Amino acid sequence: MTASQADDSELAAGGLRLRIDGAVATITLARPERRNAMTPSTWRGLAAIGASLPPDVRVVVLRGAGPSFCAGIDLRLFTPEGVPGEEPVASAADPDFEQHVAGYQAGYLWLRNPDIVSIAAVHGHAIGAGFQLALACDLRILADDAQFCMKEPALGLVPDLTGTKPLVDIVGLSRAIELCLTARMVSAAEAVLLRLAELVVPAAELDDAVRDLVGALLATDAAAARATKALLAHASGATLAEQAAAERQAQARLLRSRLADG
Ligand code: ACO
Repeated sequence: MTASQADDSELAAGGLRLRIDGAVATITLARPERRNAMTPSTWRGLAAIGASLPPDVRVVVLRGAGPSFCAGIDLRLFTPEGVPGEEPVASAADPDFEQHVAGYQAGYLWLRNPDIVSIAAVHGHAIGAGFQLALACDLRILADDAQFCMKEPALGLVPDLTGTKPLVDIVGLSRAIELCLTARMVSAAEAVLLRLAELVVPAAELDDAVRDLVGALLATDAAAARATKALLAHASGATLAEQAAAERQAQARLLRSRLADG
């Protein structure tokens, strides 16, 4: 990475590791002794990665080190002692509270960028902010020991890290209400039924399954993949006529740019 890109020491402070191999960026949540619990530095680090991703990266994989994908927010942030070396989480008494949360959300939102396909490779627990991180990704590949939980309401909070829309889009309003308001665990087997997982594999095969998927994604023409992802993302908010028009326009743009390139 260059100086203008996310700084390694800044990422380490947020418990993150970044590796870029050509078209594939792998982000590892790397605080296993805390089950990869997240702090404001984690969210800032994720946003910095998103803002500085080299343009030739096409796939971003998120994974967790150790026994869990992510245990959510570092609960010590809610204690008077806080997390050593870490700024406190935004206080509701701060008039800029919403602006701070928007900054945290920036760590998640870029994962939907049409230029990339983001994959959450989830094993063990993905709780609260960790579940929302998996939901922020385009695709979720689960180990059979994975467990999702939207814990926030049980802690007197709402999920505010961009997870509510993908959750409702995927499982529907009624199931989303049930999952969030009971804060219960969802097993990998149930996650498949609820379409929260594209694939579940034995834990020992998670890395291979992700590698296979990445290979298949990269085998597709890059410009067509980007244009198609943008088109698909547009579909749910469009009428059939609007989407048909969007398809025509996207095709024209794609083919004309290819003509212009000779
Ligand atoms: N914040 C801070 N420390 C954590 C967190 C967390 N969210 N989760 C785990 N840890 C720490 C534990 O305190 C423990 O530390 P210690 O070794 O110093 O005692 C260590 O990580 C290991 O945790 P265990 O509970 O022993 O690990 P186990 O594998 O048995 O359980 C699990 C993992 C299920 C994730 C459990 O730790 C847990 O329930 N954590 C809290 C989850 C939570 O409520 N997160 C907040 C969600 S809301 C939100 O994200 C906004």
